[in-house]
Amino acid sequence: MSAEGGEVRLVHWGAGDLPLLSGLVGDPAMMEHLGGPEGEEKIRDRQRRYEAPGSGAFKVVDPASGEGAGWVGFWPREWGGEEAFEVGWAILPAFQGRGLAGAAAAAIVGLAEADGRHDAALAFPAPDNGASNAICRRLGFEVLGEADMEYPPGRMGRWNVWRLAFGRRR
Ligand SMILES: CC(C)(COP(=O)(O)OP(=O)(O)OC[C@H]1O[C@@H](n2cnc3c(N)ncnc32)[C@H](O)[C@@H]1OP(=O)(O)O)[C@@H](O)C(=O)NCCC(=O)NCCS
Repeated sequence: MSAEGGEVRLVHWGAGDLPLLSGLVGDPAMMEHLGGPEGEEKIRDRQRRYEAPGSGAFKVVDPASGEGAGWVGFWPREWGGEEAFEVGWAILPAFQGRGLAGAAAAAIVGLAEADGRHDAALAFPAPDNGASNAICRRLGFEVLGEADMEYPPGRMGRWNVWRLAFGRRR
C-alpha cells in the first residue's frame, strides 16, 4: 500500500483509538461536508461499532511518524438494487495533502474487494468536497450522478454517487 513518498499502513480500529476518532468526527472543520461535528455520545457509539471485530474500520498509520493519522472503512450498502460496499475515509488536518487519503482509500477498496461478498464499491462525497471527489476519480470510480439523501439522520443533503466495479480498479 503506497502513498506518495512512503507507505500507508492500515490497522484494525482499536479500543485506544477514541481520541483519534474525536479528532476526526468531533472537529467542525473535518465535518464541514458531512453535516457538522458529532457529539460525545455519538462518537462513543461510533467507537463501539468501529472496534468490534470484523467491523471493516481501520486506523490509517502515518508512515513517517507511526502516529494514527485517520480512518478508512467499508460496510455493506444497497444502491439501485445492487448490494455493494460503501467506502469512506478521513485524515486529520495535520496529515492532509500528502497523498495519505488516496493511498488509504486504494487500500480499503482492495480490502472490500478481497472480502469477496460484493462486486462493487460505492462512495458518496458531497459535490463540493474537492479532495474526496478527486480520490474517487483517481481510483477509477465512475460518477453515476447526484442524489438527495438523508445524512446524517434528520438532515437532507445532496451527494455525488460514485461506483467502482472491482474488476476495473486502478
Ligand atoms: C478528504 C480527505 C480525506 C483528503 O485527505 P488528504 O490526505 O489531504 O488527501 P490526499 O492528499 O490523498 O489528496 C487526495 C486528492 O485530492 C486532491 N485535492 C486536495 N484538495 C483538493 C481540493 N480542494 N479540490 C480538488 N482536489 C483536491 C489532491 O490533489 C489529491 O488528488 P491527486 O491524488 O489526484 O493528486 C480529508 O480532507 C478529510 O479527512 N476531510 C474530512 C473528512 C471527509 O470529508 N471525508 C470524505 C467523506 S466522503
